[in-house]
Amino acid sequence: MKKEAGYVLDVAYPAHFHREIQPVWLTALAQFLGSAPPDITAPYSYCELGCGVGINLLVAAATNPQGQFVGVDFNERHLAIARDAARSIGLDNIRFIQADFAHFARDNNLFFDFIVSHGVWSWIAPGQQQSILQLLQRSLKPRGLLYLHYMCHPGATPMIPVQKLLNELAHQRAGSAEQNIQAGLDLLGRLDAGGAFVDQPGLSARLQALPEKGAAYLAHDFLTDYWRPQHSADMHRLAAQAGVSFLGSADPFDNLERLSIPGNLQPILTSISAPAVRETVKDLARNQHQRRDLFQRDPQRLTAEQHLQQLDALRFRLLPGAPGSGAVHFATPIGPINGPEEIFSPLLQALAARPASFGELRQLPVFAGNVGLLSQSLQMLMWRGHVHPLRPGPAANAQWLGRLNEWIIRQQLRLQVVEDCGTAIHHPLDPA
Ligand SMILES: C[S@@+](CC[C@H](N)C(=O)[O-])C[C@H]1O[C@@H](n2cnc3c(N)ncnc32)[C@H](O)[C@@H]1O
Repeated sequence: MKKEAGYVLDVAYPAHFHREIQPVWLTALAQFLGSAPPDITAPYSYCELGCGVGINLLVAAATNPQGQFVGVDFNERHLAIARDAARSIGLDNIRFIQADFAHFARDNNLFFDFIVSHGVWSWIAPGQQQSILQLLQRSLKPRGLLYLHYMCHPGATPMIPVQKLLNELAHQRAGSAEQNIQAGLDLLGRLDAGGAFVDQPGLSARLQALPEKGAAYLAHDFLTDYWRPQHSADMHRLAAQAGVSFLGSADPFDNLERLSIPGNLQPILTSISAPAVRETVKDLARNQHQRRDLFQRDPQRLTAEQHLQQLDALRFRLLPGAPGSGAVHFATPIGPINGPEEIFSPLLQALAARPASFGELRQLPVFAGNVGLLSQSLQMLMWRGHVHPLRPGPAANAQWLGRLNEWIIRQQLRLQVVEDCGTAIHHPLDPA
């Protein structure tokens, strides 16, 4: 098994698309959160740290002609796949840099409007984390957005000893990362069957679900020498020291506290004003196991009037597979929520007729005088994958889009590019 800086190298990480790191999504979320994002109708720069095989950057570059995209990863197998794809699509606004974060932070002289990193922070050595913080300090432009995904307490906490076992076992064996994961799963299965987790039924269920994730994914998830969930309050403090402020989540559901925190806990949350205590309470109330945090350097907080003006300009469309009317059922992490027909039907019908701006949707009688209800309903529909903001700015390059689609088919990825939204969706016929 080969490692660098304590991280596994000898197996390629499968391609995972994350809508939450795409520029259109990030800027819309910042706007919902009341902050002015980078202008994506003008040229901008975007960097993904730990980009894997590059699927997120390839979609972003092909659908966002105004952006210049940089991917950083130290795994040459990953970058060979990513570079080959960029060449076959013909993209001229993307490049991949093979480096660890320490070397990249030392050598980089570019400035970025976006720095994003998913599935990386909680899995890397402290020195590599320090380098990411230095990079933020030096290279994120004023108003630039940082998306940082990490594992957090308390949801990820029970897995700490499980990861320790898998990684220690792997160190004792001669096999490949995938073989070592298989041996670890066998051992965990025997422990579970023998009753080791009888007092932790939640953990037992999680362990039983692991094999379906595949050995390559599990090797990257667990066979690192540094596997540390963070407390969000600590993460926000570190980010603040690097000069970036916490805005909210890139997951809209997490920002809708009235929906995502059970009603009987609302009064407790309302009584707390200190941000570090509030976020910790929210993590506890949701048993949060990962966070998709959105930060900004020198955020420009909008007045209520500016905020409404910004929201009014956002345009939305229905995504393939969305209902054209009716009530909407949301299966949320804290249980089912039924979106009433009287609110969602008019909204879905308006969007089924044609894309519409927030300002236009605000004219629907059901939202008269209730901007908050429209904002919440649209964000729930975004979260559910029914609605997406449209990308402002010039049209994408049709040749790039055609070749990106061909590449996606060749790779047998179940993704559908939605070019006018600057994103892709999981195939509408696949289960969510
Ligand atoms: C779990 S994968 C996530 C890939 C992608 N961001 C995603 O979410 O699908 C983590 C990636 O980070 C890269 N990586 C880990 N530690 C690194 C380091 N110190 N420097 C550069 N890349 C690193 C790995 O090679 C891998 O491609």
